[in-house]
Amino acid sequence: MSDGEELRGVVLAGGTGSRLFPLTKVTNKHLLPVGREPMIFHPVKKLVEAGVREILIVTGTDHMGAVVGLLGSGKDFGCEFTYRVQDEAGGIAQALGLARRFGRGGRLVVILGDNIFERSIADFAAAYRRQPSGAKILVQEVDDPGRYGVAVTEGNRVVRIVEKPKDPPSRLAVTGIYFYDQSVYEIIDKLAPSGRGELEITDVNNAYIARGDLTFDVLPGWWTDAGTFESLKHATDLVEATVGR
Ligand code: DAU
Repeated sequence: MSDGEELRGVVLAGGTGSRLFPLTKVTNKHLLPVGREPMIFHPVKKLVEAGVREILIVTGTDHMGAVVGLLGSGKDFGCEFTYRVQDEAGGIAQALGLARRFGRGGRLVVILGDNIFERSIADFAAAYRRQPSGAKILVQEVDDPGRYGVAVTEGNRVVRIVEKPKDPPSRLAVTGIYFYDQSVYEIIDKLAPSGRGELEITDVNNAYIARGDLTFDVLPGWWTDAGTFESLKHATDLVEATVGR
């Protein structure tokens, strides 16, 4: 990627939020509080902190109005938002496919809207800019890998990722922070829905592995999703403890 070319950012904030029902009956999961801010502020601020200035927000039809009302143009965050509607919750990879025009053939940094984490991703964004092509994922060792995409590594390579395995082959969870080049769209175009009827981001990452074009780094500091009652409370506790330090 040429030095002048900016990474564009994507925050995926669709889905049904079914694991947080009834909190999500009349609102979007990403508008629920994590600490003193709505959940979606956290990934947005991480992108801005990493120098990303153009950010696409993807969410469903039900709550797009509230999401736009909350985030606005981006001037309060130091960025410019673009919004796209995902008509149905067809999976993370389907939501990402909606970034095609926004991406304008350039590279993306993607954060799942319910991923809350401590450290800056600026160094990883810089490392990805130096990578000639392909994708990068960030992983972290966890005690409950079966809740996540789980990475199997050999030396400095990921050889396979398994989505929510019953019998996890490692403790390395794949976080919801991803870097992709323009080939992500042709990969998404070829995906078939998984057993849960979704286009899976794990299948996208496995396609990059098959091309020999996926790198990984370990995300330092704390990281959690906030998509269940337990993890929503955990995220709030971590944010409060960090802010209070
Ligand atoms: O948190 C990291 C994990 O996120 C990864 O380890 C998994 O590999 C990945 O599949 C994902 O797992 P989840 O099952 O927890 O993802 P979930 O369905 O909760 O969706 C995560 C976010 O993605 C959600 O906050 C909003 C966005 N999303 C999801 C779907 C299904 C969309 O924007 N559209 C969608 O259709």
